[in-house]
Amino acid sequence: MITALKKRVGPWKMFHNKPFTGVQVRPSFSLSIMSKTKKRMLITGVSGLLGNNLAYYFKDKYKILGLYLSHPVIMPGMNTTKCDLSINGPIKEIIADFNPSIVIHCASLTSVDRCEIEMDLADKMNVLSTRNLVDSLREKDAQLVYISTDSVYDGVKGDFSEDDDIHPLNHYGRTKYEGEVEVFKREKSFVLRTNIFGWNVQDKKSLGEWILGELQSGRKIDCFTDARFSSIYTMELARVIDVAIQNDIRGLYNCGSVNSCSKYEFAMKIADIFGLHKELINPILIEDFKFTAKRGKNLSLNSDKLQRTFNYRLPTIDHSIEMFYRDYRCGLPEMLKKHSEVDRPTSVFLPYGKQWIDDNDVQAVTDVLLSERITQGPVVEEFEKALADYTGAKYAVAVNSGTAALHIACLAAEIEPGDEFITSPITFVASANCAVYCGAKPVFGDIDSKTYNISPEEIEKKITRRTKIIIPVHFAGQSCDMGSIEAIVREKEKELDRKIYILEDACHALGSLYKDKHVGSCFYSDMTVFSFHPVKHITTGEGGAVLTNDEALYKRLKRFRSHGITNIPAEFVPNSFEFQPTNQDSQLQAKPWYYEQIDLGYNYRITDIQCALGLSQLKRLQKFSERRRQIVSIYNKSFDGIESIQIPFEFSKCESNFHLYVLLFDFEHIGVDRSQFMVELRRRGIQTQVHYIPVHTHPFYRRKYGTSWGDYPISQQYYQRCLSLPLFAAMTDGDAEKVISEILDIVKNGLREAKNGMTSCRRQR
Ligand SMILES: Cc1ncc(COP(=O)(O)O)c(C=O)c1O
Repeated sequence: MITALKKRVGPWKMFHNKPFTGVQVRPSFSLSIMSKTKKRMLITGVSGLLGNNLAYYFKDKYKILGLYLSHPVIMPGMNTTKCDLSINGPIKEIIADFNPSIVIHCASLTSVDRCEIEMDLADKMNVLSTRNLVDSLREKDAQLVYISTDSVYDGVKGDFSEDDDIHPLNHYGRTKYEGEVEVFKREKSFVLRTNIFGWNVQDKKSLGEWILGELQSGRKIDCFTDARFSSIYTMELARVIDVAIQNDIRGLYNCGSVNSCSKYEFAMKIADIFGLHKELINPILIEDFKFTAKRGKNLSLNSDKLQRTFNYRLPTIDHSIEMFYRDYRCGLPEMLKKHSEVDRPTSVFLPYGKQWIDDNDVQAVTDVLLSERITQGPVVEEFEKALADYTGAKYAVAVNSGTAALHIACLAAEIEPGDEFITSPITFVASANCAVYCGAKPVFGDIDSKTYNISPEEIEKKITRRTKIIIPVHFAGQSCDMGSIEAIVREKEKELDRKIYILEDACHALGSLYKDKHVGSCFYSDMTVFSFHPVKHITTGEGGAVLTNDEALYKRLKRFRSHGITNIPAEFVPNSFEFQPTNQDSQLQAKPWYYEQIDLGYNYRITDIQCALGLSQLKRLQKFSERRRQIVSIYNKSFDGIESIQIPFEFSKCESNFHLYVLLFDFEHIGVDRSQFMVELRRRGIQTQVHYIPVHTHPFYRRKYGTSWGDYPISQQYYQRCLSLPLFAAMTDGDAEKVISEILDIVKNGLREAKNGMTSCRRQR
């Protein structure tokens, strides 16, 4: 076999052993041997980097069927079809119909950070899908090639051979290893642990492409000097797979370039060969960069076993980069793109906020749907108890929106016509509407220029004999200075000898802390309101809740939620139509249908279906908040110190959950107005939003209360400059980097250059 192998490997060796001159442009991708009777090859993940490159490499040699999941790809001369491998049926049918002799399993969730954030999805895509594929091949004689990763090792000693211990540092590595275990349930299997770079057909960029793109655009990049690897060019790996298939090789092999280098050195080599400026490459340490998922420092592979068994010389990293360069010169990137039409799925669009639903959420909702009670059942109370336990408040009343929660809170506080209330102009209209519903007059207090929350001094100035309720809004997730607000309000209560309620609008702030207490504890207020709209930290679809420590308020809140009706005898009005004041219980037994409407309430009830979702989501609140803060720290690092941009300020007494990430831009200085900025970002797949148009400037408020532009100068200045960027827990580091890159591009290059598709972010690799 060895001689046979030598023969086949010959041309490749000759080609690569030539000294590289930098002008040879012989491509690496047309060397596969033609065969008359084409065998059938199934490639999974055909829209990804390796799957697509393999399909291209093998296109003339095999009859290929390529499978994709979310990026439809059309490749002339071969069939491609959508297939979700995590469902057992479809792949079984495909295998039965197509009957492949060779299956190359490239499909995988490869974003290391995304695997860490979305572990269930990683399990599904990397383990369950592999299991299903192996299962579908049970009765078949096909060769199975599985692409694994260097991330199965811990990256401590480096030069890892197949005998070294498996110790993945992240979920990606774990799931890829579990995939290997599935594959080895089958005897006719070949597993390659590798690390690749190459030419993508999608907009995604492999490390080599990213370095090249940034340097070509003259932008600085940060690269790690202490992270080593032995990455191999995809077309070189294709050749190894070709040889393995022809010789029916089985077992586990490490396969990288024969030597290793740091990612910094890798970038320098690319700069060298492509003739780009090396000064743009900034050396940094991986230790100094906080990735979501842990990374091994030295993941270099020892590929001796493969070289020995195949009698095959793998390329050095320099040779791999040379081939990457030659293929570039030969137009491979364009050819791949021409050859493969990949549609961008709509999910690539980044909204400013969105929910994150997982299998547990779906199960929880399904359980309720299949139960006896889908509304007014036990899950509503369970959710309320969980909210109270989490925040530390005594009572919670869940309703069908944050707006409904604010409204019943105002009703419970007996807000009436003639009363005044004080709130911030920088909020969603619901924060003010709730008291307006009750006939009260809005009085706005300007915001603090750093926190964008209502300033306590403004509240102090605006309290009058008519003030009945203060509604501080914890904007973007950061708590107002509740200690100061409470002190001012309680002082004024004494002075004016009347109750003034404090209602925290914490629709943005579930999970935030103020002085180490959870927002919602009502330690400084009478009531606190949350919203569970999908852009918020947890969702119930639509939904909200009021928290309080006051039993009387709690009872009123419950009544207002449901038409003002009660069926609790103790709450019945004395001498009412059906009941006498005494012996109510026995009368209730005599008239079991009886209830009384004692207030004018509403149907603001939330369903058990929604509460099941809320309960399930609440279990992940901590994780959601941590993830948001990680993204915020990536954003802050990139935007801090940029002229024309002001990053959010964090008040020392608070820990914000970061519902929103708001930047203040000097649009005039940038030379692009906000509408153009937003439209251009949308064109590039990024939604931004303005939070908020100051409430007092809406026509309703101007008409009814005579407010006008300029009434609140700090709010006005804030409004003219603010823009919220995408921020939600399911975002990947890559998503955040895309946002940063596109924004900095517009900030630095304006719109004309921006349209050339240039980007300008210093990303760390
Ligand atoms: C500050 C604030 N208050 C109240 C609300 C109203 O909440 P909901 O949409 O759940 O009615 C929102 C909604 O976005 C909000 O942002």
